[in-house]
Amino acid sequence: MKIIRTRDYDDMSRKAANIISALMTMKPECVLGLATGSTPIGTYRNLVNRYLNGDLDFSGVTTVNLDEYKGITRENDQSYYYFMNHNLFQHVNIDLNRTFLPDGTEPDALKACDDYNKVIEAAGGVDLQILGLGHNGHIGFNEPCGEFPDTTHLVRLTPETIDANKRFFASAEDVPRQALSMGIGTIMRARGIVLIITGKEKAQITKQALTGPVTPSVPASILQYHKNVTVLLDSEAASLL
Ligand code: F6R
Repeated sequence: MKIIRTRDYDDMSRKAANIISALMTMKPECVLGLATGSTPIGTYRNLVNRYLNGDLDFSGVTTVNLDEYKGITRENDQSYYYFMNHNLFQHVNIDLNRTFLPDGTEPDALKACDDYNKVIEAAGGVDLQILGLGHNGHIGFNEPCGEFPDTTHLVRLTPETIDANKRFFASAEDVPRQALSMGIGTIMRARGIVLIITGKEKAQITKQALTGPVTPSVPASILQYHKNVTVLLDSEAASLL
């Protein structure tokens, strides 16, 4: 695990964009695993700027997102599809037919999971997976539990996650209770991983995830076993390391 301390959020975001840009330059047809949430917004902004400057070309890139809420349509401004469009896809020359998220509107969740696993498999797996860290140690929507789920699955969100995500909704009641998430196995099979962490409220869970025991009760701790993971974190998130 390479742990890189950055000055602040902007520095972290630029460095994350540097790593993604390097891959896109070396492998224009790469498969990027993408995350939503507040942490990667600056990274995506940097990627958009580089595209606008003529330095990046998304035309060959395929993307697979970590997760999507269950029961929310793509048009809903709280969907992760909407988030990705708004923060990245609509600003760059990506082929929208090669941007994938789990289908939260499919009533048969097992089918939606199975379909998503096939999409990832058909893409040849993930070259570089971007991850944020949940306050409870989740990655994707892999919540703390008794085992590490392998592939895409239906998740019941924990009260901590509903509480953390209510800032994006009118109220906590509006936060969906379920989501579809890429599994830990799929994340661990990514050929490279960049974990980005910011803010002092993540300092404690960062310490547990990066230096504590590897346990499904802190899902991100499994990353300690990955051969090619880079952690970019600002000084506040790193304050307890
Ligand atoms: C989002 C995701 C989540 C977030 C995590 C951190 O696609 O997979 O695991 O990365 O909840 O969210 P923020 O960045 O909002 O603190």
